[in-house]
Amino acid sequence: MTDMKTVIICKSIHHNNTLKIAQAMADELEADIFTPEKVNDNSLQDYDLIGFGSGIYGGRHHRSILNVIEGLDSLSGKDVFVFYTSGFERFPVVSSFECALVSRLEGKGTNIKGKFSCRGFDTWGPFRVGGGKNKNHPDETDTANARAFAKSLAQ
Ligand SMILES: Cc1cc2nc3c(=O)[nH]c(=O)nc-3n(C[C@H](O)[C@H](O)[C@H](O)COP(=O)(O)O)c2cc1C
Repeated sequence: MTDMKTVIICKSIHHNNTLKIAQAMADELEADIFTPEKVNDNSLQDYDLIGFGSGIYGGRHHRSILNVIEGLDSLSGKDVFVFYTSGFERFPVVSSFECALVSRLEGKGTNIKGKFSCRGFDTWGPFRVGGGKNKNHPDETDTANARAFAKSLAQ
């Protein structure tokens, strides 16, 4: 139980992998879940903590998550957290997957309280062969880790 009011802004387009993680976090924090399309400065004003998450597509968060931040004027000083699910843990050499999201949030003056990620079932392009990559992920361990992460944010 917490008095902190949390909203999780989530876009999950491939297999609902990230939505599963968002739901585990929302259970723990008694949080609301919004799609980016539903978000504006007005709809966020009652929340103490805002989570931003999606799958990773082409090495970054979904465009709608990145774009929604650009349009918000009320993020300065807000506590936020970021999360994603992805086919790979990271790509060698290139920047980490959360980089684009984190730099936008930093640009808006938010206070980034934590980051969470795990693997998600991936049947994109070549990974469809053999029935896909990371079958059954996020699994129970992944959602338990997401809950523990969420709990740590409330402390
Ligand atoms: C169009 C597309 C592009 C993707 N690009 C990446 C990528 O760059 N790196 C990666 O690790 N996974 C990539 N993936 C895999 C997804 O990030 C992964 O399956 C994720 O769990 C999907 O989340 P969702 O079900 O919430 O949409 C891609 C998947 C799709 C459909």
